[in-house]
Amino acid sequence: MTFPELVQKRVSVRDYTSQPIEEQKINQLLDMGRLAPSAVNYQPWRFVVITSDKGRQAVYSCYPREWIKPAPLFILVCGNRDESWKRKTDNKDHLDIDMGIVIEHICLAATELDLGSCIICNFDTEICRASFNLPENIEPVAILSIGYPTNPDIFTTTPKKRKGISEIVLRESF
Ligand SMILES: Cc1cc2nc3c(=O)[nH]c(=O)nc-3n(C[C@H](O)[C@H](O)[C@H](O)COP(=O)(O)O)c2cc1C
Repeated sequence: MTFPELVQKRVSVRDYTSQPIEEQKINQLLDMGRLAPSAVNYQPWRFVVITSDKGRQAVYSCYPREWIKPAPLFILVCGNRDESWKRKTDNKDHLDIDMGIVIEHICLAATELDLGSCIICNFDTEICRASFNLPENIEPVAILSIGYPTNPDIFTTTPKKRKGISEIVLRESF
């Protein structure tokens, strides 16, 4: 699969079968995350892999939506603010940029393996912190729901709703 094909194929999936994800595929997702670039190569990410009933229930408590219930796998993607690069000139913390890149690496890797995924950020971070024992300096950035889509055609039939190039691109100057 070419990169344009992979990008076209990735879509937020919110309808999963409960079929467990093969351990080899879970490892592949984590490895593709591990290889993501980061500012100064600090790699400030941590991944909490959640497959147990107890863990999945805890995810539901931070993000109570019926559609996540069957998902067999969640990856809680966390960032370590103590490890992220802060630019000297203005102290800008680059954690969020690093995390966005690693999250998309994992979602694209999932897509390539015919796994549906959805990035979830609209969750209760306090419940999440308590449920998964996150230390103070570790920020829960996103929960990735992952599973085989109930309808595998979702990869090819979902229209892309995006702004046109002319709406977002400027040449030479804003
Ligand atoms: C940073 C970020 C946060 C998101 N949070 C949620 C979320 O909490 N719940 C949800 O259902 N989708 C969430 N999404 C998925 C977006 O709604 C989705 O990516 C967007 O509508 C584009 O659709 P597509 O992913 O199918 O191309 C999030 C996506 C991103 C990038």
